[in-house]
Amino acid sequence: MKFFIDTANLDQIKEAQDLGVLDGVTTNPSLMAKEGITGADNILKHYVAICEAVDGDVSAEVIAVDFEGMVKEGEQLAALHPQIVVKIPMIKDGIKALKYFSDRNIKTNCTLIFSAGQALLAAKAGASYVSPFIGRLDDISTDGSFLISEIREIYDNYAFETEILAASVRHTMHILNCAKIGADVMTGPLSAIMGLLNHPLTDSGLKKFLEDYKKGN
Ligand code: E4P
Repeated sequence: MKFFIDTANLDQIKEAQDLGVLDGVTTNPSLMAKEGITGADNILKHYVAICEAVDGDVSAEVIAVDFEGMVKEGEQLAALHPQIVVKIPMIKDGIKALKYFSDRNIKTNCTLIFSAGQALLAAKAGASYVSPFIGRLDDISTDGSFLISEIREIYDNYAFETEILAASVRHTMHILNCAKIGADVMTGPLSAIMGLLNHPLTDSGLKKFLEDYKKGN
């Protein structure tokens, strides 16, 4: 399972990269705004800085919602750096744009997926990744993990190569559930990744080992 970090914060990206477990980064316009990165030029520069800080794929989202606009923006984003994956919203023109980029071997991430039907359509259009937002489904009392399992079953039935990128991951149980179901990738905050480290028995066990070592020395 690949681990992506879902942030535009360079310090957090570097911390996850230093841990040695990071496979990529996802961003969105809200995450950029949260870091105070505004204006087209600054946003493009920030994507390049993120690409230089990590080894894997970096999703960069288009703002246009019409086919021509998405193609223009997506081509500009893809030309920035070889690690860029063009993030396209799940709308009618987005499907056309996914097919356009797929035909030209430009990697895409279809975002804002909330149903298995949407994921099927994105795979048919040749998306490299689909991003089902599990946390936002849980927020409205709908089982986000169940959506991941539905998409897994459909993709396996037809050997679709589109990777399931579980998004809107909020905590460690989301990561574990996605891993059990077989999501190809999860993207979440640094806190969720670091949360996997924690167990009180590890802490108390290590404390005792160190105390006992000191007794004998
Ligand atoms: C996915 O690529 C999105 O950036 C993200 O996972 C959205 O998560 P949120 O629901 O926590 O905003």
